[in-house]
Amino acid sequence: MSKADVLVLFGATGDLAKKKLLPALYDLEELGQLDMPVIGVASSKWTQEIFRENVESAIRARKPDADEEILRKVLTEVKLIVGDYSNPKTFVELAEALKDFKLPVIYLAIAPEFFATITESLAAVGITKRARVVVEKPFGRNLESAKALDAELKKLLPEEQIFRIDHYLGKEAVEDLLVFRFANTLFEPVWNRNYVSNIQITMAESFGIEGRGKFYDGVGATRDVLQNHLLQVLTMLTMEPPIDMNSEAMQNEKIKVLSAIREIKKGDVVRGQFVGYLDEEGVAKDSDTETFVAMKLFIDNWRWAGVPIYLRTGKKMPETVLEVIVEFKQPPRALFGRAESNQVRFRLGAQDGVDISLQAKKPGTKLVSETVDLSVEFFTEFGDRQGPYERLLRAAMLGDHFRFTRIDAVLHSWAILDEILSSPDPVHSYAEGSWGPEEADDLIPGGWNPVGSEADDIKLSHH
Ligand code: BG6
Repeated sequence: MSKADVLVLFGATGDLAKKKLLPALYDLEELGQLDMPVIGVASSKWTQEIFRENVESAIRARKPDADEEILRKVLTEVKLIVGDYSNPKTFVELAEALKDFKLPVIYLAIAPEFFATITESLAAVGITKRARVVVEKPFGRNLESAKALDAELKKLLPEEQIFRIDHYLGKEAVEDLLVFRFANTLFEPVWNRNYVSNIQITMAESFGIEGRGKFYDGVGATRDVLQNHLLQVLTMLTMEPPIDMNSEAMQNEKIKVLSAIREIKKGDVVRGQFVGYLDEEGVAKDSDTETFVAMKLFIDNWRWAGVPIYLRTGKKMPETVLEVIVEFKQPPRALFGRAESNQVRFRLGAQDGVDISLQAKKPGTKLVSETVDLSVEFFTEFGDRQGPYERLLRAAMLGDHFRFTRIDAVLHSWAILDEILSSPDPVHSYAEGSWGPEEADDLIPGGWNPVGSEADDIKLSHH
């Protein structure tokens, strides 16, 4: 795999660039890994100066303590090509700017409906012959459209040149799921249907759609984050160990587990919409788009048969958390009184870490047990770690597919959701600051395990 020598950012003046990609350039420069020019492409009619000012403020907003020297280096690397994505001239200008470079990485940080046409225009000026093309999620909006988009792209680019982003694959805490499972002998023997009673995955966000109504409406929570981010987390948690840590071996195992997930039926899904969503800008007045979704699924393979797995995600929830709880079965005899089940709780968002709840002898004359927690917070252990976008940009520059999604995995994840996307049940409304519609609680006998600060409070009360 050779290293790219120039980075092209379509959508360089957009939201994703501002919030994630431009700050990631700073992180790469700090690591001494940017070492290539960055050419932004956007339709905003900005001068080079305004563009650089915007790059600077985007970086400063995320990095208040930015090192001036590093920042200056980033600013000398960036320039902007202004042009309409539908105008062939834009691509002629880009081709001219790239003529002295051997291997460009072209990052399409733009609305998915432009992926195919931009790739065609890149091909028309000969850029695709030697470029890697990075596409953001969602890849399609269902199985059929993902297949169609793939067919379009494949006319112009082979799979090796396509890098499909799911930034959850760049998160250190999500990768830790693999390390936790396969670098410790302790857990793997019990990580199966014989010992696990259920798995719960929650991705909750306390904020709403933040002015993204135009994109979000008609997409909804299932397509925006469940089909990709949550299924990736589930895959890492349930896949078999790959024979090796190379990209191909990894992707092969992912496919095996994804293809064993039973297609989800409507009765196992609850969709919700927060009260007030219909008043958001860019949202249709009668919109049926879900801002919350919860579902139950099963993996029909030897390891997981019969273990219910619950996923839920939503906007305007009580807090922002990304957590997985693996709950274990009760011991065969309750010798020390009724006890809580063992749990492994992975905190994958802010303050990431792992908590393992166990039973220990409660002090006193009686032989009864009480819950105790073994906890690790990764920041305390390891300090600051890398952000997902800097890792993914770097991987694309190096041509390493390990942290990207292969097309068969994308198609499998859409296939699992095909029925519920094609004829969804109506949405239930829920109040801002709640955990979604009440109907979602009924999916799990006994309700969802507490996550976030509620779970932290319980943990503290154990001590
Ligand atoms: C994006 C979704 O892919 O992921 C957003 O489009 C969501 O709606 C975001 O808020 C969450 O990412 P993170 O890294 O903040 O959990």
